[in-house]
Formats: sequence, structure tokens, C-alpha cells
Amino acid sequence: AEKVTVTVLAKMKAEGEKITMLTAYDYPFARMVDECGVDMILVGDSLGMVVQGESSTLPVTMDQMVYHTTLVARAAKRAMVVGDMPFMSYQTSVKDAVKNAGRFIKEAGAAAVKLEGGAAVADRIKAISEAGIPVQAHIGLTPQSVHQMGGFKVQRQEERLLEDARIVQESGAFSVVLEGIPFEIAEKITKTLSISTIGIGAGVHCDGQVLVIHDALGVNEGHVPKFVKKYKELAKIAREGITEYVDEVKSQAFPTKEHSFK
Ligand code: KIV
Ligand code: NA
Repeated sequence: AEKVTVTVLAKMKAEGEKITMLTAYDYPFARMVDECGVDMILVGDSLGMVVQGESSTLPVTMDQMVYHTTLVARAAKRAMVVGDMPFMSYQTSVKDAVKNAGRFIKEAGAAAVKLEGGAAVADRIKAISEAGIPVQAHIGLTPQSVHQMGGFKVQRQEERLLEDARIVQESGAFSVVLEGIPFEIAEKITKTLSISTIGIGAGVHCDGQVLVIHDALGVNEGHVPKFVKKYKELAKIAREGITEYVDEVKSQAFPTKEHSFK
């Protein structure tokens, strides 16, 4: 199948074909996501919450993101792999932003990077883009600013959101994630922009959708936000399998001759 590139994504928006994106953090999940035809794989810094067991994304490091992106890029044959820039990998300076964005491409094999913020990070979006690295912006509810937002809250300042969307496009972003904003505002942004909008908790009118795979498949048994749809209950199935294994080892029902060598 044809590799998904920024050109392919632009064509999808122009033709009104919805874009699919899911997160992955390792080889087996990335392989499934890629082979099921998902267009973009985000190696999200949600890693901190759904894989590392942290209560925010803030502790995630560049080295951890590069490592997980390497595993995902190894599996992705068709999907575009997007590396999520972790907290403090681009906030500190334009120079740090370009250097760290480059690591995702050079060391990990990603095709694009994502970073959080609108007008405030315009100079970084511009510099990374000018280095030849496609940038996906992320506005609205931006989890790396959890302390400033006073929690994970829906963002409703329409003027500001429209302005941020306009500025990230002008700065060279090829796409923008809209997280946790009223669907009417997301619709307005999507109609205004020429770049694709990928929504999470932003309604049906975005050009595409993204979800955290551990939430969508029910691997994550903790709290999930209102905007998540749980398509499957993988944790439930896994617990059943683990419990059966424990019972069978205890009762010596496993291993049988079938699993043994003579
Ligand atoms: O880290 C992540 O998984 C994300 C998505 C929720 C957009 O940023
Ligand atoms: Na993220």
C-alpha cells in the first residue's frame, strides 16, 4: 500500500476522506494498527500515563520517546509515524526544539513530530518545518500545561482557539490536533484551515480522529475521559487468560504432554 505522507493527507482533506490516527508505543500494537489501515500512528507522550503509570505526561523524557518511536517505526509499513515531543524538549528554546525534533527523524525513524501549543510556539513550529521536518501542532486541551490549565479541562475560548489554529498553519504546521474543545469551534476551525484537523474530544466535524489505543481497546482500566469510546475490553480478556494460567499451573493441568519434550 502507498505510504501515507503529508501529500496524501492533504489530498484526503481536499476529498473529504476522514483521516484515522491511533497511538502506539511498541512493535506489536504498531503492527496491528498499521495493518488495519490506520493512516497515522502517534507515539504519544500519553506513554507516561498509559504505559509508565504516571499521573501526567510531564515526566516523559526524550530518550524514552526516541526508544518507543524506534519500536513503532520498525512496525509501520504504510502509516505515517508521528513522534510526540515531550515536556521541556521544545519549550526551552528554538534550538532545543529543532535538535530534539531531529532525533525523532534521525534516530527513531519517525516521519513527523507533534508539539503542544499555538501562538506561543509559532517560532518553534516554523524552525522545525524549515529544517524539513513536518510538524503537527496540538491546541485546546494541552496536557503538558495541566498545571496552568488547572486540570484536564475542556477549552472554550473561541477567539483564542481560532487564532492559535490560524497561527500554527501560517507557521508551517501540516496538521493540527484539536483536543477537548466544543464541536462547533472545531467545525469552524476545520472549515477555516487548509491543513487537516485531527480531533480528540472535538466532535465529528474534524478532518480526522485520534484516540489513545490503551483507552480505545480497554487495556487501560483506570479513568478514561468522556470523549473516549471503548471499542473492546482487552484487559478483561487478558485477566481471564492470566487467571486460567495460574489455575492450570496450580492444578497441573498445564503443561500437558502436548507442551512437553520426550
Ligand atoms: O500523547 C498523546 O497520546 C496525544 C494524543 C491524545 C493526541 O497527544
Ligand atoms: Na501528547
